[in-house]
Amino acid sequence: MKILAIETSCDDTGIAILDVSKNGAFDVLANIVSSQTALGKKYGGVFPAMAKREHQKNLVPTLISALKKSGLVKKPDKSPEGHFDGPAIISPRASLGGILEREPELKKNLVSFLKKYGKPDVDLISVTNGPGLEPCLWVGVNFAKAISSFWNIPVVAVNHIESHILVNLLESPGMKFPAIALVVSGGHTQIILVKKPFGAAQGKSGNYEILGETRDDAAGECFDKCAKILGLGYPGGPVISKLAAKARLSCESRAFAKLPRPMIGTKDYDFSFSGLKTAVLYADRKIKNKTKKYKQEMAADIQQAIIDVLIKKTMKAVKDFKAKSLILGGGVSANKELRNQMQKKLAKELPNAKFLVPSPHLSTDNALMTAITGFYHLPTGRQAKKMAWKKIQADGNLRIE
Ligand code: KG4
Ligand code: ZN
Repeated sequence: MKILAIETSCDDTGIAILDVSKNGAFDVLANIVSSQTALGKKYGGVFPAMAKREHQKNLVPTLISALKKSGLVKKPDKSPEGHFDGPAIISPRASLGGILEREPELKKNLVSFLKKYGKPDVDLISVTNGPGLEPCLWVGVNFAKAISSFWNIPVVAVNHIESHILVNLLESPGMKFPAIALVVSGGHTQIILVKKPFGAAQGKSGNYEILGETRDDAAGECFDKCAKILGLGYPGGPVISKLAAKARLSCESRAFAKLPRPMIGTKDYDFSFSGLKTAVLYADRKIKNKTKKYKQEMAADIQQAIIDVLIKKTMKAVKDFKAKSLILGGGVSANKELRNQMQKKLAKELPNAKFLVPSPHLSTDNALMTAITGFYHLPTGRQAKKMAWKKIQADGNLRIE
């Protein structure tokens, strides 16, 4: 079966097409990400209203690229079943005008696309409906509803955090349970207990338990805010990790600041990163001459402070729950030092446990992870009915539990 997936939870517009064979093997036909990084760099971060506008612009061109890459481009349907305009609900289909009334630019792009291209050979649409930036999530959700209703293809809504975990199944099928997942992104830092194996249409209930999470800033947010303090631009994670790698090669001592490791010794699995950011701000104020070497050293210290806390709390969870796998996911898991240090620690202390981390381009937001999660939540019964799209809502605070 072919799954067309849509991801718009933050500032990346992702469209992927995944083919899953009868024996469950994955074949990635396309995984296209249109990133808003240039805008983020220009304005120093992500602004929901601006990101929503960009998704409206990017979704159709990204879909066209994905269809071309997959060889699924079709000639226009002679008499399309859906309606281009009109009131919100025309039974049994809704009109695009009604579904996309809050996304006029997207509607315009989609209508001209649908006049030019026909229904692709796709069996399921999978869309992220949370957590994330709600205006951005709604663009993706309404886009999914529009094409689901127009093409008469079932749609399933999936959780973004679960997708950051399940993307690991693509490259490392041998996940063992129970597992501990550390999901570290720009919006989340959570330690999650994954209780049982995944099967197609497993249903979400009961398989996940959030053991701990950040009480303030997420780890990625801390990277981003610290980078801003140091004048390094956005997103902060990649630039801090690049600078830190240079410090490791060049410097012998980094004595200008001892950064805190907030909550490293507490008995729970929670995190707090806002104090670290404040410590960086105060330390930075004291430095008059902000040389290249200073920035490299500071970057290395920030990165190590974040890594130390993540490793300590995650390893505690792995041991406490006798986990057989440790799974990393989310944008921060693209960090080379975090991956290497976590893997070494696990190999040393629990050599029988399996370590899973996605390739860096699958750590950050993409729609392939949304497609995989869609496969594990194949709609059944009433959900599989054509009108199921009507019930889907975006939820910025959606929980995995
Ligand atoms: O998962 P993601 O792409 O989007 C969200 O769901 O938030 O994560 C984005 C976050 C950003 O905060 C970014 O700075 C961070 O991931 N990030 C990194 C690295 N690459 C991206 N953090 C540390 N090191 C990296 N190499
Ligand atoms: Zn993410």
